[in-house]
Amino acid sequence: MIPIYLDNAATTQVDPSVIECLQSALSEGPANPSSLHHRGRSARYSVERTTEQIGHCLGSVLDQPGGDRLIFTGSGTEANNLVVQGLSQIQHYIISRIEHPSVLEVGKWLERNGKSVSWLEATKAGTICLEHLEFLLSASRNTSTLVSTMWANNETGILQPIEKISLMCEEAHAKVHVDATQCVGKIRLNLSNLNLTSIAFSAHKFHGPSGIGAAWISGGHSINPIMFGGEQQLETRPGTEPVALIAGMGHALTIACGSLEQTAQHCQTLRNQLEHSLLERFPDLVIQGATAERLPGTSCISFVGADRQSMLMALDLEGIACSSGSACSSGSSPPSHVLSAMSRPKLEIDSAIRFAVSKFSTSSEIEDSTERISRVYRRLRR
Ligand SMILES: Cc1ncc(COP(=O)(O)O)c(C=O)c1O
Repeated sequence: MIPIYLDNAATTQVDPSVIECLQSALSEGPANPSSLHHRGRSARYSVERTTEQIGHCLGSVLDQPGGDRLIFTGSGTEANNLVVQGLSQIQHYIISRIEHPSVLEVGKWLERNGKSVSWLEATKAGTICLEHLEFLLSASRNTSTLVSTMWANNETGILQPIEKISLMCEEAHAKVHVDATQCVGKIRLNLSNLNLTSIAFSAHKFHGPSGIGAAWISGGHSINPIMFGGEQQLETRPGTEPVALIAGMGHALTIACGSLEQTAQHCQTLRNQLEHSLLERFPDLVIQGATAERLPGTSCISFVGADRQSMLMALDLEGIACSSGSACSSGSSPPSHVLSAMSRPKLEIDSAIRFAVSKFSTSSEIEDSTERISRVYRRLRR
């Protein structure tokens, strides 16, 4: 049986040309951008060139002193931690309930440490509740506030109204951090048009290597480090920069952004094919966020009457890799906090499975998957 990978929201296959880029960067020899000799200078140049390349993909100029900047991290998780913990002079945090654990858990930790945290509710449609945001922002006027919300949800793929959120925060003089880990390289972003304070993202979500992420910080905002012991990256994130991984991330993002619309079209076609063919067979399936604006390739489907853990195991035996909820929690698979925050019925929460296609997915894989998923669901539904 040919394995089929439908878990591209968890991580993606590294693009072959990114592997070449990594190999070439690694074979260039020792590369410590802090070294003053010619090898160090060449490594520094490579990091600077990649930074500009990434800035270009995000619609941000990253080579101006005091302007927007990029801080390389080891992951999206670290980028979220660094910004939410590190943004200076925040007195009040407004954090959405549908965040990835790398933001949610920081919020809970801040709360345990006596910080003022408000939890922003989500609507049944899977977006954050703008009326609640308005209320929370007006209640925290004259207080230095950070709003933290994601751009695209990792479980449902639902896109948040970032433009509106950014405008509301600008009016209320609040800072806004956006976890863009699921959408960088998948939807066209132009950070120069928005009033965001920071975003976080991670290369392995767009066919780059794992072990490298970044926080983009808009000019004029400072971040206190959460680690100490080095002068790299202006001491904000000490540690020798992984030059090859950075080059791999830049290359992966450049490829993704160069064919973004075609890839999005391809993914959306396959995602729709999967949803439509499953719905034809099982009209009572629930596609979470079916009518909302979503990432092109992500689908969260509730197989009502089946148990998601049993579904996952049976699908794995059928050669289909997919997940329930976020990859980070899929080992233990607690019920989805995202679907709970969307007030979905328990039957839907208990049976929700996430599928995500990529540019490497094919229509025949989807056809084959439909057969295998149907077989499993027929067997497991009560
Ligand atoms: C929305 C979101 N934020 C953050 C992360 C964490 O990224 P990383 O796996 O690079 O730590 C993920 C990973 O699934 C994610 O989907």
